[in-house]
Amino acid sequence: MSGYGQQCAAIVRAARDAPYRVGIVLGSGLGTLADAVEGAVRISYNELPGFPVSTVSSHASEVVAGRLAGCEVVVLAGRAHYYESGDPTRMRTPLETLKALGCETLILTNAAGSLDIDVAPGSPMLITDHINFSGFNPLIGEESDARFVDMNGAYDKDLRARVKAVAVENDIPLAEGVYAWFSGPSFETPAEIRMARTLGADAVGMSTVPEVILARFLGLRVVAISTITNLAAGMQATLSHAETKRMGLEGVGKLTTLVTGLLKTLDKDEADA
Ligand code: HPA
Repeated sequence: MSGYGQQCAAIVRAARDAPYRVGIVLGSGLGTLADAVEGAVRISYNELPGFPVSTVSSHASEVVAGRLAGCEVVVLAGRAHYYESGDPTRMRTPLETLKALGCETLILTNAAGSLDIDVAPGSPMLITDHINFSGFNPLIGEESDARFVDMNGAYDKDLRARVKAVAVENDIPLAEGVYAWFSGPSFETPAEIRMARTLGADAVGMSTVPEVILARFLGLRVVAISTITNLAAGMQATLSHAETKRMGLEGVGKLTTLVTGLLKTLDKDEADA
């Protein structure tokens, strides 16, 4: 660990100690999911050494620890994006904190643009794999051999099957696909989107990929769900962050159902064990 993870975990435990199992990262406009956490303590990122304070208008920047759908969870309400600082490692301390708190599973959420005309704004998309189109990697400079992370199966097959089952049970049409990470903060050009589609991407966004790499480095199981907030550049007339936030809110109900449904299956495993 790089240093602050244990220290931050101790601060969270001092506020609320519990057998935490699942970490959740909330994306743009998806912050209301944290409101469903019961018995929650909220700790501002300002109070946690090494935590980034998000400059994105729809991100809260607090840790919310409590119970959700029967599971002890630690929610990171607010993430740091590469485009805020030029530093792809800024989510390392938050993720190390989840690991130090005992979390084994990480649920990542984000807002993304769809490359598929049939996957409309408001739809959830389960990420099956990614393309790191930014070229940056949060493990550059890491010295241990653990830096050579195997990215086969990074998006855990068992967790994906559980999310798909929850979608079927709740009649939620769930797209699946490959997420391409572009650095942002400008949106992509229509030509870049055509290129991304040719390369095999189904959605584009400005986050998540560095967190998946760090999480696999730390040995966390990962599942990631996008809320499609727009059709990508060239597929709809204009793009804006305001629209991303608005459509994120439209999609948050389905996302909450998928996440809480997944947590219930994890809780059931524990009860059966
Ligand atoms: N591109 C990149 N990031 C995004 C988009 C997009 O179209 N929509 C939401 N986040």
